[in-house]
Amino acid sequence: MKYSKLTERIASEGAAAWDIHYRALEKAAAGENVIVLSVGDPDLDTPAPIRDAAITGLSAGQTHYTDCQGEADLRSVIAAWETSRRANNVSAQQIVVQAGAQCGLYSLAQCLLEADDEVIVFEPMYITYEAVFTSVGAKLTKLNLDPENDWALPVEQLQRSINSRTRAIVLNTPNNPTGAMLNATEWQAVLELAHRHDLWVIVDEVYSELTYDQAHLDLADSLVDERVVTINSLSKSHAMTGWRVGWITASESLAAHLTNLALCMLYGLPKFVQSAAIEAFVNHPNYVSEARSIYLRRRNAAVSVLRDNGVPLSFVPSAGMFLMLDVRGTGLSATEFAEQLLDRYGVSVLVGDAFGEPARGHIRISFCLNEARIREAMSRIAQFWNELSL
Ligand SMILES: Cc1ncc(COP(=O)(O)O)c(C=O)c1O
Repeated sequence: MKYSKLTERIASEGAAAWDIHYRALEKAAAGENVIVLSVGDPDLDTPAPIRDAAITGLSAGQTHYTDCQGEADLRSVIAAWETSRRANNVSAQQIVVQAGAQCGLYSLAQCLLEADDEVIVFEPMYITYEAVFTSVGAKLTKLNLDPENDWALPVEQLQRSINSRTRAIVLNTPNNPTGAMLNATEWQAVLELAHRHDLWVIVDEVYSELTYDQAHLDLADSLVDERVVTINSLSKSHAMTGWRVGWITASESLAAHLTNLALCMLYGLPKFVQSAAIEAFVNHPNYVSEARSIYLRRRNAAVSVLRDNGVPLSFVPSAGMFLMLDVRGTGLSATEFAEQLLDRYGVSVLVGDAFGEPARGHIRISFCLNEARIREAMSRIAQFWNELSL
C-alpha cells in the first residue's frame, strides 16, 4: 500500500538517540543498579490538589466533549497568567489549549507554514523540531548556537540567513538541551529582524518556570505584536508530562485557525484534565517555586560534585532540567563515552550529537532523579572521567 509523503517527513532520525535510554531501562528492569538520567520526565508527583481536582471532575461526570479551543474557565486563568508578564492584556480568545506543547508546535507548523518556506532554527535543538517543521514540507535553516560562548545566539548570522522564502524564526528559551536562556539583547535583535522581514517568531517556553540565575524572556519590555506566538505547558513546571496540557498564546485570528485545526484532530482535551489544569493555575506560584527550588538544588549538587572531582564544566545551565557536559577532552566520542558510562558505571545519559552539530562531543545529563541519586551519578561520571584522564 502507498503512504503519503508526510510519513517520510515525520520518520525522525532522532529516534535512534533513545536507544541508550531503552537499554538502560532494560538493565534496570534486570535488577542492575542503573541511574537513568537520559530522560526529561520529572520524577516528582503531580501535586495532590491537582490530582484531586481531576478525580473530583471525573466523579462529577466530566467525561463529555469539550470546547475545541479549551474550556473558557481554563483559558481565562491562562490568559490572566500570560497577561501578568506582558505589556498588553491577553484575552481568553487568544489562548488555544493543546495536548501539550508538542501538539502546539505541530499545530503552529500546520497553520503558519507552506511547503518550501524556510524556518530558521538554532542547534542544539529539541529533537522533535525537525519532524514537526518539515512535516508541512518547510525547509529548516539551521544555525549554530556557540558552545564556546555560552551558547549565544548568532545574531549576525541570523541576519544574513534571512531571505525572501524565510517565514519563521523558532526560539526555545530556556533551551533543551543546553539550559541556556536568551538574553534581552538577543531577543530585541530577533524581534527587530522579524519586524523588518515580516516573519513569525515561535517561542517554545516549556522550561520558563524552571529558571535559576537569570530572568526569563521579558515580554512586558518588548515590542511584541501578533507575529510573536508563544507555546507553554504544565509538563515540566508541575510534573504533568502525562496529562498533556499545553497552550498557545496567539492573535485572535491565529487562535481561530488553531481552533479549526483542533476541531480536525484533537477535538478538545478531557474536561477533568482541564479541571486539574485550572487548579494548577490557582496555586501556580506555590507549585512552581517548590519545583524550581528542587531542580536548583539538583543542579547545584551536580555542578559541585563534578567540579569538586576534577571534571571541567565550562557552562552551568541557568534554567531547565539538563546539564550539557563536553566530553571531548577525554578522547572519546560522546557515543563512546555514553555507552561505556552505561556499561561500566551504570549511568545513562543522552548523546548530545542528536541535538545537532554544536552539541557533538557533549552528553546531556537530566536532573529528573532525587539529589542523592544525582550526586551518586555525578561521582560515577567523575570516576570514569578521571580513569580516562590517567
Ligand atoms: C523544548 C521542548 N519543547 C516541547 C516539549 C514537549 O513538551 P510537552 O510535554 O508539553 O508536549 C519538550 C519536552 O521535552 C521540550 O523539551
